[in-house]
Amino acid sequence: MNLDIDYEKAYRELLQQEQAGGGQLLPSNSLMELVKRWRSLFAAKEKGCSKNILVLGSGLGEMAYYLSSLNLGEVYGVDIAPSAVNYARTYHGNSQGRFPLHYLQGDVRVLIPTLMHSFDLIVDHHCFHCLCLDQERLAYFENLQKYLRPKGGQLLLESVATASDNDDGESEKILWRKRGDKFYRYRRAVTGVELEQEFLSRGFTIEYLVYRQDLCFESSFGVFQVIANRC
Ligand SMILES: C[S@@+](CC[C@H](N)C(=O)[O-])C[C@H]1O[C@@H](n2cnc3c(N)ncnc32)[C@H](O)[C@@H]1O
Repeated sequence: MNLDIDYEKAYRELLQQEQAGGGQLLPSNSLMELVKRWRSLFAAKEKGCSKNILVLGSGLGEMAYYLSSLNLGEVYGVDIAPSAVNYARTYHGNSQGRFPLHYLQGDVRVLIPTLMHSFDLIVDHHCFHCLCLDQERLAYFENLQKYLRPKGGQLLLESVATASDNDDGESEKILWRKRGDKFYRYRRAVTGVELEQEFLSRGFTIEYLVYRQDLCFESSFGVFQVIANRC
């Protein structure tokens, strides 16, 4: 039995409900804050060098559009749901910036060969935590390593988290959602220690890691914001 959320179905339902209100959306404030922090730490040092950016789980396209408007470099948004990608192309497809903006349908668990070694920065706002299984997260990191340029590539991530490091019950870290009469795996919430270990064992060092309970997710969870460097 498939326990994964069908994102395409979810977007089709969402877009149908909001048909009349279709249009440009704003990116999340927390993501914009993280990008600002990253720019204050790194971008100024490399002024003048363009930075190609890959947005994973780009959804309806607003984050990729925002990043494109910063004129840092070419931006690619990738999402598994074709309806979300079509929406992104329609409403957030015309970059106001100097560099091209693209939206592709793709799965973060499966390598997209044309994107290999192309990116200085990968941005993930709430996609990584959709990967609940160890093997999915392993594939994600292996692909990340291949998308980033060999030296100096970076990752900005915001992902659902638990504050407590004592929680060792695996099943409690998987959040489930009921759709119809079935339950689906929805998110995997990790602790700071687990996240750090996961990054270190997958070839990244952590530059910045903060737990934000104020960006509270489903009442008892917060999020981690991370800036990581490819080793
Ligand atoms: C929680 S939503 C976040 C959307 C957007 N990043 C935002 O912050 O508004 C998770 C997004 O990741 C996408 N997604 C989930 N699993 C994916 C996968 N395996 N490959 C690519 N995209 C995926 C979903 O379609 C959805 O757009």
